[in-house]
Amino acid sequence: MALWIITGASRGIGLEMVRQLTARGDDVIAACRTRTEDLAAVGCEIVDGVDVTSDEGAARLAQAVGDRTIDVLVNNAGLLISDNLSSLDFDNALAQYQVNALGPLRITRAVLDRLQEGSKIGIITSRVGSLGDNSTGGNYGYRMSKAAANMAALNLSIELRARGIAVFALHPGYVRTEMTRHHGNIDPDVAARGLIMRLDELGMDQSGTFWHAEGYPLPW
Ligand SMILES: NC(=O)c1ccc[n+]([C@@H]2O[C@H](COP(=O)([O-])OP(=O)(O)OC[C@H]3O[C@@H](n4cnc5c(N)ncnc54)[C@H](OP(=O)(O)O)[C@@H]3O)[C@@H](O)[C@H]2O)c1
Repeated sequence: MALWIITGASRGIGLEMVRQLTARGDDVIAACRTRTEDLAAVGCEIVDGVDVTSDEGAARLAQAVGDRTIDVLVNNAGLLISDNLSSLDFDNALAQYQVNALGPLRITRAVLDRLQEGSKIGIITSRVGSLGDNSTGGNYGYRMSKAAANMAALNLSIELRARGIAVFALHPGYVRTEMTRHHGNIDPDVAARGLIMRLDELGMDQSGTFWHAEGYPLPW
């Protein structure tokens, strides 16, 4: 039985991952800012007060983990504030950078000593953070923060290779959640299933790569 941590577990893709992992018998620590009824209904361990932009939130999560070993850390919490060049608001861009780019680093660093050889870190970035895959433009704040999140994943993979900890950037697909105002091609349960499958099967040999939840690699 593996121990998974999922951030941003209150709703959307994170909540679905928590549901599916709990249902198959894994141990899950669901980290969220505020617990929701849907999350409480899953019946797993919940740590609230985990704002990924705050050191206190990250420390709260680390304290809850205690001396347990984390098998898979999923940095899922994310923020999208749509913009284009004329509507771009720099404070909003910074807010997205705090959550999407620095959040995964802050959380990973806070629990790093609870990861060991064989542990995995998944960062749910986005295909729109890919430099090589950008053909449509727009969403400056979100895209730039997710590109930085991709760099964090790659950088972490290099630094943590010697410790045998594998790191991946993952794109969930275009998913009908609050983030997309329920537009998309798939529901959160499908995205969650794909992400869990990827994290189950990817290993050290693929550390430092970027994957679509459907199972094919993406360009950085
Ligand atoms: N949906 C898509 O099509 C899509 C596509 C590509 C990538 N993604 C990525 O997938 C991940 C999950 O997205 P989603 O679609 O499930 O979005 P969502 O329904 O909007 O959920 C976002 C989650 O992130 C949490 N969160 C936001 N800011 C946070 C903060 N400062 N600290 C802690 N948690 C915070 C939210 O918590 P609260 O309830 O407290 O706000 C919520 O649990 C995100 O990283 C997103 O960028 C989604």
